[in-house]
Amino acid sequence: MRRDESVSVADAWSGFHRLTPEQRLARVAEHTKLSAGDRASLTAASALPRELAAQFVENAVGSFPLPLAFAVHAVVDGTPVVVPMAVEESSVVAAASHGAKLAAAGGGFRTKVDDPVTIGQVELRSVRDVAAAKRTVGRQRKAWVADLNKSIASMVARGGGVRSIEARAVGKGRLVLHLLVDTRDAMGANVVNTLCERLAPVAAEALGAKVGLRILSNLADHRLATATCRVPAKALGGREAVRAIVAANRFALDDPYRAATHNKGILNGIDPVLVATGNDWRAVEAGAHAYAARAGQYRALTTYKADAKGDLVASLTLPMAVGTVGGVTRLHPTAKACLAVLGNPDAKRLAAIAVSIGLAQNLAALKALSGEGIQKGHMALHATNLALAKRKTA
Ligand code: HMG
Repeated sequence: MRRDESVSVADAWSGFHRLTPEQRLARVAEHTKLSAGDRASLTAASALPRELAAQFVENAVGSFPLPLAFAVHAVVDGTPVVVPMAVEESSVVAAASHGAKLAAAGGGFRTKVDDPVTIGQVELRSVRDVAAAKRTVGRQRKAWVADLNKSIASMVARGGGVRSIEARAVGKGRLVLHLLVDTRDAMGANVVNTLCERLAPVAAEALGAKVGLRILSNLADHRLATATCRVPAKALGGREAVRAIVAANRFALDDPYRAATHNKGILNGIDPVLVATGNDWRAVEAGAHAYAARAGQYRALTTYKADAKGDLVASLTLPMAVGTVGGVTRLHPTAKACLAVLGNPDAKRLAAIAVSIGLAQNLAALKALSGEGIQKGHMALHATNLALAKRKTA
């Protein structure tokens, strides 16, 4: 999509926040051709019946509603998208829309998403000769992969399956096997854990080792998602504003105390999309923070620079283990409706949208922080919450 087309897409949603909730819903429903059932699930006070809640978790007594909102102005890989966000914090949705609008001024977000390959770990203990054990894994790899794939024929038929098995020496006498499993549109935790439990005794016997833990890793660095965008300096108020944003990001690359807050801001954008679509946001949080510390120091997940024209180029990369089938994604009525709003994406498209909204959020926060400060925009929107709290306690 050309830059001027993206801008006009963004403009088409201008003023969305000034509509009433009913008007917003009507607009989104019309735009996304939402079914009457999905539409009802977006507004029902409790779209999750108690019986269903009790099937999802133990000891259920009810459900816990959160505000559900739509971020607008996002253009991801040339396609405009209205993004559902379930979140309690004021100014998050406004900031996501604001950041997306800035990105749209430069053509929107471009993304690169890895195939959905999840890592399963099999820990093998009491390995006498780790180097020899690694060679054995090398010899057995093909046969083990083939055997495991036979046990997940339907996933293989869908184009997924075990891709490889890697061996890592971790500490004394410990070999850790990494099963690399393409889980297609599923987040994949259950199938990967099952495969780990299946491989463990076979590998332990071949290596003369003892079986340790068998569980997936949330440091899902084989399924990274990257979003980039270019924001014209003019849209940010000039080159000085670009330099200020680059400097703000530098602070978060250099200092873990600042990086923690900076990355929290990114996840302010991502988590609400994951909650709205029934995804395991704790898994993505864990992966994001572990990935941020991969070089030995906890750092910002983003990079920012000025290009030759003085425009801002921003990028965000993190592990994005999400699914659009399995788990509660299709069972929770609101999650199902939110996926419909997103055009029923596959897992890679959902990852692309989530990472883009993470970058949008961060861009808006850095613009505010490096300019007028966070409180003006944030507190203007938070003021209604404070007034409400005051009335309740009065
Ligand atoms: P503004 O400059 O007053 O906005 O910003 P604007 O009037 O130029 O509007 C720009 C767009 O923002 C609008 O475009 C809307 O999409 C959206 P339009 O549709 O009008 O063409 N927008 C709104 N959307 C919904 N409701 C609204 C609204 N106002 C604007 N009322 C804004 C105001 C709050 C957006 C801006 O100041 C901002 O983005 N601030 C950042 C806020 C933020 O980051 N909040 C997250 C919570 S703070 C935090 O926990 C994270 C942090 O610690 C992370 C870190 O440290 O890095 C900050």
